[in-house]
Amino acid sequence: MQGVRCVTALKADLLLTGARLATMAGPAGLGVVEDGVVAVAGGRIAWVGPAGEAPSIDAAERFDCGGRWVTPGVVDCHTHLVFAGNRADEFARRLAGESYADIARSGGGIAATVRATRAANEAALTAASLKRLDALLAEGVTTVEIKSGYGLDEETELRQLRVARGLAAHRRVSVAVTYLGAHAVPPGGDRAAYLDLVCERMIPCIAAEGLADAVDVFQEGIAFDAAECARVFAAAQAAGLAVKSHADQLSDGDGAALAARHGALSTDHLEYTSEAGARAMAQAGTVAVLLPGAFLMINETHRPPIAAFRAAGTRMAVATDLNPGSSPIASPRVCATLACVLFGMTVDEVLRGFTIEAAHALGRADRIGSIAAGKDADLAVWSVETLSELVAQIGPSPLFARFHQGVRA
Ligand code: NIG
Ligand code: FE
Repeated sequence: MQGVRCVTALKADLLLTGARLATMAGPAGLGVVEDGVVAVAGGRIAWVGPAGEAPSIDAAERFDCGGRWVTPGVVDCHTHLVFAGNRADEFARRLAGESYADIARSGGGIAATVRATRAANEAALTAASLKRLDALLAEGVTTVEIKSGYGLDEETELRQLRVARGLAAHRRVSVAVTYLGAHAVPPGGDRAAYLDLVCERMIPCIAAEGLADAVDVFQEGIAFDAAECARVFAAAQAAGLAVKSHADQLSDGDGAALAARHGALSTDHLEYTSEAGARAMAQAGTVAVLLPGAFLMINETHRPPIAAFRAAGTRMAVATDLNPGSSPIASPRVCATLACVLFGMTVDEVLRGFTIEAAHALGRADRIGSIAAGKDADLAVWSVETLSELVAQIGPSPLFARFHQGVRA
């Protein structure tokens, strides 16, 4: 019949209404949509946009956001949250004047956490990790990256990776797992023999068993040099795994450029990265992951080259670096605040840095990080009047609701 259209309603499991959306869709800015709706089907976003433009939607369940702000779920793209023990004694030593590197060279630092982690069984590691994970979830995290690197032997590294993978069975969260065997030479270990183990045995085995999504290295005077890191990158790539690095944290080792040459997803810390390094990263699409918690806690004063990243168009993400030594901070919001105050990032850069740019740092921007049709329905609903409030104050979490793949969690 002329003039009559047969309109089939969009079937949805869940419909969020009354949302002020910061979608993070688009190459810059927050992608704000006033009076937005989000339709969810099968854990994915089926439709998103202003209520006035929405198609007819037949939803099994509705959630009224009551005019609250809704962002993509927070992505913490750099953590070491599976570990045992704590290093509060090192905090006191740094207050007394020792540097992070001095403490590492004296047998503390990463080696201290290696001793504690080797002594912890899988159940103890899981229990300790869940407490830290819960702190992140309370601030809207829906994806967390977790690195190994506190075992530095075959058995403990595999245990750390399994615990990290297993956390997703305990909580509604997506976990990206990264093998960081090249974090330090194991205490009392032989450097060359250890690198052989990492490259020739661990990486192929981890890739074959699907225990990690990426391989990371710590390129620094107190850890591994450029040639050693390049060898680990090559082994990872031969095994089909993406690469990342901790680079230029305590000195300029030209680590950003090395990571860029290897097509790394991200390179992280970067306090001493040069302008040329920033440009190389932009060209390679390697994300700069800024870690202001570590900058604060190790009393660093040399800031990462934010202006050079902006000028070059390097993507900038922000993460907690949650770990027992350099960044014992289980709070994305505190790290967001620090990124603004210590590094001079803008609120919008930091909000993108904890969502869409962090998704790029994990190679998952096709699945998470923005509110867009086809992506996982990972959402955070906030009781704030302005998004700046998320960053402008340190205190109780303003999270109102968290959805992971369309399920309220
Ligand atoms: O990201 N820089 C190296 N690794 C970790 C810290 C490890 C530790 O101190 O336990 C970091 O800061
Ligand atoms: Fe780290």
